[in-house]
Amino acid sequence: MTEIKEGLKGVVIAQSNICFIDGAKGELVYSGINIHELAEQAQFEEVIFLLLHQRLPKQSELSELKSFLAENSTLPGAVLEILRQLPKDMEPMASLRTAVSTLSAFDPNLDNTELNTQQQRILKLCAQIPSIVAAIERIRQGKEVIAPDPKLSLAANFLYMLRGEKPDEIAVRAMDVALILHADHGFNASTFAARVTTSTLSDVYSAVTSAIGTLKGPLHGGANQQVMQMLLKIGDQDPVDFIKKALANKGKIMGFGHRVYRTEDPRATHLRRMSQQLCESTGQQKFFEMSQKIEQFMNNEKKINANVDFYSATVYYSLGIPADLYTLLFAMSRISGWGAHILEQYKNNSLIRPRAEYIGPRDQHYIPIAQR
Ligand code: CMC
Repeated sequence: MTEIKEGLKGVVIAQSNICFIDGAKGELVYSGINIHELAEQAQFEEVIFLLLHQRLPKQSELSELKSFLAENSTLPGAVLEILRQLPKDMEPMASLRTAVSTLSAFDPNLDNTELNTQQQRILKLCAQIPSIVAAIERIRQGKEVIAPDPKLSLAANFLYMLRGEKPDEIAVRAMDVALILHADHGFNASTFAARVTTSTLSDVYSAVTSAIGTLKGPLHGGANQQVMQMLLKIGDQDPVDFIKKALANKGKIMGFGHRVYRTEDPRATHLRRMSQQLCESTGQQKFFEMSQKIEQFMNNEKKINANVDFYSATVYYSLGIPADLYTLLFAMSRISGWGAHILEQYKNNSLIRPRAEYIGPRDQHYIPIAQR
C-alpha cells in the first residue's frame, strides 16, 4: 500500500537555509537569528536583507537597500489605472493579486533570469506591494492616491500612503514589528506555491501571484481578517458562549491551531503584548479582553494555541486599518520570505511534481454520446 501523507504533513522536500522552526519548542529563527531578537531590535528592511542574503546588512548595505526601496516604490500609472477600473467591492486580496500579476508587463527585462536581476525584481516587489495596498484602499474610498515619501521607512511610508498623514512613532514601530514577525515561515502553503511555480522555471511575478492566491485562503493568511470579523460579530455577546456554539457547529476558530507549532506560536507572544498596548492606548480594551477570554478558553478546554493571526487582528484594528486589508499586510511582509525562497529554488531547482495514488474506476470503455 502506498503511504499517503495528506496535506504533505511532516514531509521534508528540500534543504533550506532561510528559516528554522522548532514546532515542539515554539522556536522561529530567520537565518540563524531568533525571531524574538529581531522583533525587539531589528527594522523590517534589515530582515528583508537577512532573508535574501542569510546575514545582516552592514550600515552601507542597509542604506543602499533603503534607497533602492524608496526609489522603486512608485507604481506604473497603468497599474493604478487598472486598480481604478476594478469593481469597488472586489476583494482587496484579489485586487493585489491582479496588480502584482500586471507588474510583469512593466518589467523590461523579463527574459533576464540572472540571479542578480531576479533579486532586484524581488526587492522592487517589496517596495511596490505596500504602494499597491495603500492605493487599493485610497481608490475604494474615492480618495487621491498618495505618492510614497522616499525619506520614510517602508513601514512608515505604508501608513503614510494609507492614511494621508505622517504616522507617529508608536504606530510605525508596531507596523515594523508586525512586518518582521510575518516575513517568513518555512515551507508554508503560500511559500510552497511560490516554489512550485518557480520550479517550472516560470517567472517571479507568476510565483508571487501564485503565493498571493494561496495566502488569501482562510486556513492561511486569510485567518487574520476573519478573526477581526469574528470579534466584531461577537460585539456585546459573551465571547466564550460564542466560541462554544461555533465549536458545537464544527466550526474552526480562526487564529487558533497550527500545522507545525505544538506550543505557543512565538510570533503570538509579541503580537499579544502589542495588542494589549495598542488596544489600551486607543480605547479598544474591549477587543483585547475579548481576545484573552477566547484564548484562555481555547487553551484550557481545547488545548489549542493562538497563532500569528489571532492577535495581529487587534493590532491592525488599533492602527485603524480595515479588516479586509489584514491579509494584504501579511503579503506586504511575506514577499520578503517568498522572494528568498524563490531565489533558493532557482539556485537549486528540481521540478516539484508529486504523485497521487489512483483510486478511480479502471477498465472503462468509451461510449458514444448517443448511447449514454
Ligand atoms: N478551531 C477548532 N479546532 C481546531 C482548530 C481551530 N482553529 N485548529 C485545529 N483544530 C482541531 C481540528 O478540528 C482537529 O481536531 P480533530 O483531530 O478532532 O479533527 C485537530 O485540531 C487538528 O487540526 P487539523 O486541522 O487537522 O490540523 P492541521 O495541521 O491540518 O491544520 C490549521 C492547521 C492552521 C489549518 C488549523 O489549525 C486551522 O484551520 N486553524 C484555523 C485557521 C487559522 O488560524 N489559520 C492560520 C494558520 S497560522 C498562519 C498562517 O499560516 O497563515
